Amino acid sequence: MLNRRTLMLSLAALGAYPVRGALAANPVFYRSPGCGCCHVWTERMAEAGMPVTLEDSGDLSALSAKLGIPQGLEGCHVGEIGGYVVSGHVPPADIKRLLAETPDARGLLVPGMPVGSPGMEMGGQTERYDVLLLARDGKTTVFATYG
Ligand code: CU
Ligand code: CU
Repeated sequence: MLNRRTLMLSLAALGAYPVRGALAANPVFYRSPGCGCCHVWTERMAEAGMPVTLEDSGDLSALSAKLGIPQGLEGCHVGEIGGYVVSGHVPPADIKRLLAETPDARGLLVPGMPVGSPGMEMGGQTERYDVLLLARDGKTTVFATYG
């Protein structure tokens, strides 16, 4: 049976995709069904050259917990890109920086849904928010600040 993953692995084996540090084509991100802003964030990702696929999750908080997002810091969508977890409205530029710097970390997160973050644009309004780097032990440090 040829599912997406085996297809990607086969393509990687054939040299169609560089393996290390490369982005799987259209990595899957999960959202709560009906959430209206996640697809706008995926548009920002596509505009930045990192298209992702969006799918509904029956239990986003359980999935977030499974991926190591601390309780209370969840975003409205979560997925993995280039071996890192990305949760919430993380600006594409920060994901690029993460993938370029390749820190030993679990990933990036933006808790909640800050107004003015990518995918949460509301007529030029902005709210101050931090992009957090999530360490392997679950601790967070500020990776970038906006607003
Ligand atoms: Cu959102
Ligand atoms: Cu959303």
